[in-house]
Amino acid sequence: MYRANPAEGAAWVTGASSGIGRGVALELARRGYKVLATARRAGELEKLAAEAGGLRGRIIPAPGDITGRLAMESMVADIESAHGPIALAFLNAGTYVADKPGDFGGDGFRETLHLNLEGTLNCLAPLVRAMSARRKGQIAVTSSVAGYGGMPRAIAYSASKSALIAMCEALKFDLDKVGVNLQVVCPGFVKTPLTDLNPYDMPFLLELDDAVQRICDGFEKAGFEIAFPRRMAWSLKFLNMLPYSVYFRLLRWRTGGA
Ligand SMILES: NC(=O)c1ccc[n+]([C@@H]2O[C@H](COP(=O)([O-])OP(=O)(O)OC[C@H]3O[C@@H](n4cnc5c(N)ncnc54)[C@H](OP(=O)(O)O)[C@@H]3O)[C@@H](O)[C@H]2O)c1
Repeated sequence: MYRANPAEGAAWVTGASSGIGRGVALELARRGYKVLATARRAGELEKLAAEAGGLRGRIIPAPGDITGRLAMESMVADIESAHGPIALAFLNAGTYVADKPGDFGGDGFRETLHLNLEGTLNCLAPLVRAMSARRKGQIAVTSSVAGYGGMPRAIAYSASKSALIAMCEALKFDLDKVGVNLQVVCPGFVKTPLTDLNPYDMPFLLELDDAVQRICDGFEKAGFEIAFPRRMAWSLKFLNMLPYSVYFRLLRWRTGGA
């Protein structure tokens, strides 16, 4: 299976202005990649590029909103014409907003689905076309262990992240045939500006640097899934194999349904 390296092309990271994406962009630059960094806040990307000065590779801001389908088509084309082929893409931009009682199917709910699922698809589709045509490339999509099954107060989030896992599993059959390596990244809780807002207990919370190393090391391995911490990922996978009566009872007991 194809494994990207800096000699074969650039890396593209979405959600690079903060948290996991920011950390991964810096680590890939440390490992020698020219990294195109995408998020909406151009100022944060400029600061990131400056912070990468002195590393083996470098970071180049490529600001944009992943919810724009045409904008992401152009983004991929523009990056490749200016910087050469994208060898590695980390499609990570996304968010979690706790469900608000009574907002099921409302604006906030749809925004989460739109950003996490359609936004990622907007980036994935032009990459799949370009990489399939040259029969080479590596793409990692950030889902979450919350995508293994429905979690309390995360209806839209779980739905969007489950859909990403299923989409990648299904797409892998096609991409394997053309030599494109597709991976899915399923983190448990990682300390970032996003989780700093969570008012509840976060079991097995990982420091950002730890998560970043696990993700970047995972890019260099063969596995389809990069899931961590293992204790959390495997507990949730096991929970999802149990009968629903047990699944709901255990999750309600562990989380208080919230
Ligand atoms: N932290 C965790 O515990 C955890 C666990 C499992 C999965 N995840 C997933 O990991 C990913 C990153 O999470 P994080 O914790 O690092 O969150 P974060 O610190 O809030 O970072 C989210 C990133 O996404 C970008 N973004 C948001 N909307 C965007 C848009 N419309 N277009 C382009 N970029 C956009 C943000 O940049 P701008 O605001 O500048 O656009 C930011 O760079 C998410 O997909 C999240 O679901 C996180």
